[in-house]
Amino acid sequence: MCGIVGYTGTKDVREVILKGLKRLEYRGYDSAGIAVRTDEGIYIQKKKGRIDDLSREEVPKRSAGIGHTRWATHGKPSDENAHPFLDCSNELSIVHNGIIDNFNAIKDELVEKGHEFSSETDSEVIVHLLEENYEGDLLTALKKTIRRIQGSYAVVAVQKDSDELVVARNQSPLVIGVGSQEHFVASDVPALLDHTKDVKYLQDGDIARLSKEKVEIWDEKEDLVERETKNIKWDVEDAEKSGYEHFMLKEIYEQPQAIHESILGRLTSFEDIDLSKYDFQEVQFIACGTSAHAGYVGRYIFEKLAEIPCTVEVSSEYRYTSPSDSTPFTILFSQSGETLDTIAAAREAKRRGCNTLAVTNVMDSSITREVDEVVYTQAGPEIGVAATKTFTTQVIIIYLLAIELGLRKGVLNKNKAERYKDELRRLPRKVERILDDKDKIEAMTERLAKARDVFFVGRNINYPVALEGALKLKEIAYVHAAGYPAGEMKHGPFALLTKDTPVIALAIKDHTFEKMLGNIGEIAARDSPVMVIGDEDKEVKKLSDYAYFIPETLPIFSPLLVNVVLQLIAYFTAYRLGQDIDKPRNLAKSVTVE
Ligand code: F6R
Repeated sequence: MCGIVGYTGTKDVREVILKGLKRLEYRGYDSAGIAVRTDEGIYIQKKKGRIDDLSREEVPKRSAGIGHTRWATHGKPSDENAHPFLDCSNELSIVHNGIIDNFNAIKDELVEKGHEFSSETDSEVIVHLLEENYEGDLLTALKKTIRRIQGSYAVVAVQKDSDELVVARNQSPLVIGVGSQEHFVASDVPALLDHTKDVKYLQDGDIARLSKEKVEIWDEKEDLVERETKNIKWDVEDAEKSGYEHFMLKEIYEQPQAIHESILGRLTSFEDIDLSKYDFQEVQFIACGTSAHAGYVGRYIFEKLAEIPCTVEVSSEYRYTSPSDSTPFTILFSQSGETLDTIAAAREAKRRGCNTLAVTNVMDSSITREVDEVVYTQAGPEIGVAATKTFTTQVIIIYLLAIELGLRKGVLNKNKAERYKDELRRLPRKVERILDDKDKIEAMTERLAKARDVFFVGRNINYPVALEGALKLKEIAYVHAAGYPAGEMKHGPFALLTKDTPVIALAIKDHTFEKMLGNIGEIAARDSPVMVIGDEDKEVKKLSDYAYFIPETLPIFSPLLVNVVLQLIAYFTAYRLGQDIDKPRNLAKSVTVE
């Protein structure tokens, strides 16, 4: 994520930018900084920590500036890695949100030419490329610069000698605020609403130049274009949620982007860690709650794609297991990186001699200091207490790792691996199709909101998804729910089935499908309402009271799609019941007690 703000006009630049950044803190708060143009050069203030930690020292009053609040991706949170960045002559400065895939190659080239870098970030290459391309016109320099960079970016640049800002966008959001004798640019509208409600959304490939008087926009073909000015009706709080009523819903809707960001740069080769250093004969996954469910799904993925035997442990129980004779490679999942049970498990795994890897969403979080290796999901900050997009991106990392290890072990050949990678690329679009069906999914929840108990059943790789669906419903709707392997229902829980006990059955057309159909029939025979989520099938339609069919995919990828449906089911049930969705009672986003 990261939030960026730019301003050109006659107000106090520093105040406008800092206030705007405060409104974007939900996008990250690892560090903050501003750059303001002055006749002597660019005045810069930046620091690890929050916007309020920036010093209040007087800034020379000038009419253009940029600011940034960071969600660290490349390079830990630190003063050096904070934006904005300066070129070597202190005349140009930029802020960036996104990920530059080819920054290593560009950096090597620029260092060779004598550029001095002050940070470990991917973003800093942009300002040095700008400097390299600058021949008196910043806009032309930016056009040349973005032709060189691959990846996602929202960039805003300012220079010493002009009140103009130039900006570019590709796959990271950027919106222009239109004022009278002033213009703004930001990652999101909340940063603008104190000053204007008239905005222009930039599109991928757009480049723009902003001055006090006017805004000019060019599209990806470099044709001058008009982008419609829209009047925003939201207040600031609505706008922080991009108009969604809850952060949870917003985060559910951010999943296509989160998947995209997480696979970006990792599909050609998984370079986050040097895999050849470690022994992957056997792997264990350790985590809590939703992250543990990602681990359970991961076990099936690793076993199928890389033929690596896996065990999964809940963090708080790991210490009570006996160390095995071998020392399995240990992967700990924690979106926050602060869950004390998981941190304690990481220490214990090390004590037992295991090599450890943490998969987390928070740069430099506590768990990163306990393990040998770290892989970051790229979900952006998750504010709703219920984990949604971080689960999805944890599972994405598991696919990427398993494909890489499967290739190395010769379990997958190149063609097969490519087939899986192609499907990964298609997943964001498929998730969008499910999100477009939200009204259909919402309709299912009328019955669930009246239920006292709900069962979720699945088989094989969708059994852990049933566990996750039940957890989401419990924690945000406060409806008692249990996830079961479908075949286990007849060994006890059948006693609870009545016409008032809905069962959500996950039916995917893999080698378990026929058995699942049998289970659905058995449940329907007990008069329980059956709601099926899965692959399209006539028999399912006949047997169920309600069926939602996911977009076609390979069975191994079905958990991600099915789970998005279950997230929406939990959300809309909780909504009907009027629960406090983003802050469920008795729960916290980071659980720092054992
Ligand atoms: C459920 C949920 C929790 C977390 C668990 C672990 O929606 O969010 O079950 O998954 O507390 O948290 P992390 O992943 O931060 O270690």
